[in-house]
Amino acid sequence: MTELAAPAALSALLTAPGVTDVLINGTEAVWVDGAGGLRRVAVHLGDQAAVRSLAVRLAAQGGRRLDDAVPTVDVHLPGSIRMHAVVPPVAPAGPLISFRIFRRQALTLADLTAHGTVSAAGAEALRALVGARVNLMVSGATGAGKTTLLAALVSLAAPTERVVVIEEAQEIVTSHPHCVRLEARNANAEGSGSVTLTDLVRESLRMRPDRIVLGECRGEEVREVLTALNTGHDGSAATIHANSCGDVPARLVALGSLAGLDGRTVAVQAAAALGAVVHLARAADGVRRVTELAAFELAGGELLARPALSFQGERLVEGEAWPALARRLERA
Ligand SMILES: Nc1ncnc2c1ncn2[C@@H]1O[C@H](COP(=O)(O)OP(=O)(O)O)[C@@H](O)[C@H]1O
Ligand SMILES: [Mg+2]
Repeated sequence: MTELAAPAALSALLTAPGVTDVLINGTEAVWVDGAGGLRRVAVHLGDQAAVRSLAVRLAAQGGRRLDDAVPTVDVHLPGSIRMHAVVPPVAPAGPLISFRIFRRQALTLADLTAHGTVSAAGAEALRALVGARVNLMVSGATGAGKTTLLAALVSLAAPTERVVVIEEAQEIVTSHPHCVRLEARNANAEGSGSVTLTDLVRESLRMRPDRIVLGECRGEEVREVLTALNTGHDGSAATIHANSCGDVPARLVALGSLAGLDGRTVAVQAAAALGAVVHLARAADGVRRVTELAAFELAGGELLARPALSFQGERLVEGEAWPALARRLERA
């Protein structure tokens, strides 16, 4: 593996076990996120010029430029690290560098149960959803553990199935034996050569997928996703950014409008395409937990996410949408 062009103190933080994010706030402070939540560490990386040149050097290592003309960058670095950096004057108090470290090992659903993310009964319900090929959305805030849960769910697909994973950057690590990946690409410095998520969802349909997995649905690709799922790719899944299951319909409508779809069209298509949404939240104690499961429904032309299960410790509390979903799981 290529060595990262970073000072030893920073490299040590980036490779420390359990660390998920390292945040450099100019010359002010360095913060680290991990199992115990966000904490400040006593690491000093020099003056503004030194922090800036660190960001520029790392951006260059990832093949990107960072300077007065292009003051923000988002780049992949060796060691499964993504770096975002923004330099003055856009960051007036000094360069802000955010590293995200991607887990290299697949977490299984059993691992997530061991971490307190989902109870044994909750894991059983998720297993049944994947087994029944219910199209799933995994929702939550940034860092809630959506991608990690999605990867664990992908691993549960039958080994006889072919899974096509589409991502902006390679994040999903799964143990599934027949999983192929597509990765979107930004345009080059001349503005050509971009391959978008929308392109890739379309391409994936010609690759004989049994299941299509989209790392994150966050833009106009929602139109292709809804089309794909409405044309017989049951058992597909994606993550989506939302604060609760109940917020997912509005989020889908907002994404749909980016693709030129009106709210009603999104509602009709999503209600037909999507089976359920699983929500994750990170609690104050730093533990990421599955909190609720909801089912989509069309009511008076509007998309609703109706409560199916509430995950309360070891207990699953059934909601109004559970009986219909449970019948579907039993039939499968
Ligand atoms: N259930 C979990 N238990 C412990 N660590 C987790 C769990 N889920 C995610 N993580 C870690 O938290 C970080 C953020 O998770 P990720 O799945 O990328 O979140 P999101 O996709 O919601 O932004 C990752 O580094 C991951 O390894
Ligand atoms: Mg994610």
